[in-house]
Amino acid sequence: MANSGQKVVLITGCSSGIGLRIAVTLAKDEKKRYHVIATMRDLKKKDKLVEAAGDAYGKTLMLLPLDVCSDESVRQCINNVKDRHIDILINNAGVGLLGPVESISIEEMKRVFETNFFGVVRMIKEVMPDMKKRRSGHIVVMSSVMGLQGVVFNDVYTASKFAMEGFCESMAVQLMKFNIRLSMIEPGPVHTEFETKMMEDVAKMEYPGVDADTVRYFKDVYLPSSIDIFEAMGQTPEDIAQCTKKVIESNSPRFRNLTNSLYTPIVALKYADETGGLSVNTFYNLLFNFGPLMHITMSILKCLTCSCLRRRTISPN
Ligand SMILES: NC(=O)c1ccc[n+]([C@@H]2O[C@H](COP(=O)([O-])OP(=O)(O)OC[C@H]3O[C@@H](n4cnc5c(N)ncnc54)[C@H](OP(=O)(O)O)[C@@H]3O)[C@@H](O)[C@H]2O)c1
Repeated sequence: MANSGQKVVLITGCSSGIGLRIAVTLAKDEKKRYHVIATMRDLKKKDKLVEAAGDAYGKTLMLLPLDVCSDESVRQCINNVKDRHIDILINNAGVGLLGPVESISIEEMKRVFETNFFGVVRMIKEVMPDMKKRRSGHIVVMSSVMGLQGVVFNDVYTASKFAMEGFCESMAVQLMKFNIRLSMIEPGPVHTEFETKMMEDVAKMEYPGVDADTVRYFKDVYLPSSIDIFEAMGQTPEDIAQCTKKVIESNSPRFRNLTNSLYTPIVALKYADETGGLSVNTFYNLLFNFGPLMHITMSILKCLTCSCLRRRTISPN
């Protein structure tokens, strides 16, 4: 149970990756300022988190089951929190989807929206009324650079994050009136199981209904570039956890928080030309006309951003 003065933080999707690392980072806070409720849809996957939490497990960190796709699971989880009191909600759970749209069923697309969009909406709807009554709270949402900028062959994942960005941008204004803050965390590529799971899915793909040219662009042009980008620009879950900690500890938390400064110019392209031509043409050229040049650039970047020269995490303030 939380001590008086401790903030109650509930995090979704803590079985691996970013969610696990945020939970451990906050639970191990030196001043013990947080009581972390780390949730996951299948508690059988708790071992990695429990091991990483060490002594904090059972003290500043506890576990609860929570599937963000189920109304019942969300309600039960929040009812199991003392007085339903949550100071900070971190919506982290998410799934990816990659590949030519023609080969993806509408059912698979709905699954992505059910988790990445409706999962967040479901959590906010359950927690927000109590925060409003108390006139305090902070809602954090794990978005993505792909919530700000479309990326070829990530069409549906990108759409789910755009949907969430639009929802949150609208909600933030109303919530501010109740002294509730809303912050988006927008990472670029991060080395987690997310990347592994997507690559495993891609390896199993059969591309029904997709023409040969599109399959070739996806497999021989997009995938190698994507791997280059992950290797050159990828952050660690620890980078994202530190950025999230800074956001929740700020006296005036920012609404948008890009975690990777290397992406700032890419996002800026979109706002530099309201017709959209600049960003669409730039991405087209990078992928289809300057592929080899991009490979060389990413290789140089990989060297420049390694170890001590790496300055990847920007301070949100
Ligand atoms: N990795 C990246 O490059 C990257 C970049 C930008 C943004 N993000 C975002 O960061 C967040 C975390 O991703 P990650 O990279 O840490 O990937 P990850 O290691 O695959 O973690 C995703 C987490 O979400 C959980 N989850 C999936 N569906 C769920 C559901 N219905 N209910 C509850 N939990 C569910 C997974 O649980 P199970 O173990 O049960 O599947 C897992 O714990 C996602 O929102 C993702 O979109 C990731």
